[in-house]
Amino acid sequence: MFNKTLIKVFGQKETPFYYYDLALLDKTLRAAVLAAAPFSFHVHYAMKANFNERVLHHIQQAGVGADCVSGNEVLAALKAGFSSDKIVFAGVGKADKEIIAALEQDIFSFNVESVQELEIINGLAAGLGKTARIALRINPNVDAHTHHYITTGLDENKFGIKVWELNECLEVIIRSPSLRLSGIHFHIGSQITDLNVFKSLCVKVNELNNWFSERGHHLDVLNVGGGLGVNYHNPDGDQIPDFEGYFAIFNQFLDRKPGQEVHFELGRALVAQSASLISRVLYVKNGLKKNFLVLDAGMTELMRPALYQAYHKIERADQDAIVPTDAQVSYDIVGPICESTDCFGKEVALPITKRGDLIAIRTTGAYGEVMASHYNLRDEIRYVYSEEL
Ligand SMILES: Cc1ncc(COP(=O)(O)O)c(C=O)c1O
Repeated sequence: MFNKTLIKVFGQKETPFYYYDLALLDKTLRAAVLAAAPFSFHVHYAMKANFNERVLHHIQQAGVGADCVSGNEVLAALKAGFSSDKIVFAGVGKADKEIIAALEQDIFSFNVESVQELEIINGLAAGLGKTARIALRINPNVDAHTHHYITTGLDENKFGIKVWELNECLEVIIRSPSLRLSGIHFHIGSQITDLNVFKSLCVKVNELNNWFSERGHHLDVLNVGGGLGVNYHNPDGDQIPDFEGYFAIFNQFLDRKPGQEVHFELGRALVAQSASLISRVLYVKNGLKKNFLVLDAGMTELMRPALYQAYHKIERADQDAIVPTDAQVSYDIVGPICESTDCFGKEVALPITKRGDLIAIRTTGAYGEVMASHYNLRDEIRYVYSEEL
């Protein structure tokens, strides 16, 4: 929770704003890098989770690579200081101009998502006199046991190349002089908390790794994507994800062939706990069936609850000032946006709360600020960084 000094600072700021705890971010990054080191695993940061410049700077300083899903993310990664040989570029619909920009920067690898994309990258690379290093993003049909909106590795998902298309991929690669197959790539979903899921992924990766070597293709890289989940229910008690357990599974169950590198693309696990969205109560509406707290933050600042029914812990930001005996009231916590889905939480138990009280929506460092919009012509997002206080 927040200490008294911080609560005082929050009280003086215009709300809503994202509060970034950059010391916690650094601690999380250190934990991830340390846990990966014994196995010589290569960690990339999935920039889609948060490309706030200050956040990116801290991540780049930690020495990890960048995983991008658009040409602009590639350029932002370079601007933040990530070296091009640590940048990978995934995405089911890369536009020609994005491919060209990434080729011009000689990025480490394109994670290719379809047979047709192979042909397009080959043509564009040939035009520029370049060779594109590629990894095939394969859809392994492994159930991530997470919310269906953030599951990506099943046959019904749009992502990746299906296993039965691999022969055709190899034919295209063999006749494409401007492509060099460097690896295979997987990303089966996000907010995965059952680590057994990653064992199932390893089994599939091993099968496919063998499939390629039986056909005479040695792969340099096995990229197993991201997806490690965080504890949205207990942000203070469980600040740092179990990176050690996570990497240990891959070390134990992945059969690396000599010289093969293993790459990861972690997003949420690196940044989620480092931010809270701080908001003020504008109105309290006590109804017959429901009590509502109407905040000055809405789905325009934090879209996850409206987009995929995501849970975030919601607290009074001045929790410390609250006497444990204070009566609890059940509130639906909503935003000011003209949409019924603009709701952060239903039946949330809070002490009696009044206009002007500060509310913290926790664990919003990933897929928070980056999904903000101007819908309803809302203000630009505001930030407060711990290192400025
Ligand atoms: C290709 C790819 N890699 C990595 C990630 C990062 O996932 P996470 O934030 O769950 O670690 C994503 C996010 O969905 C992704 O699409």
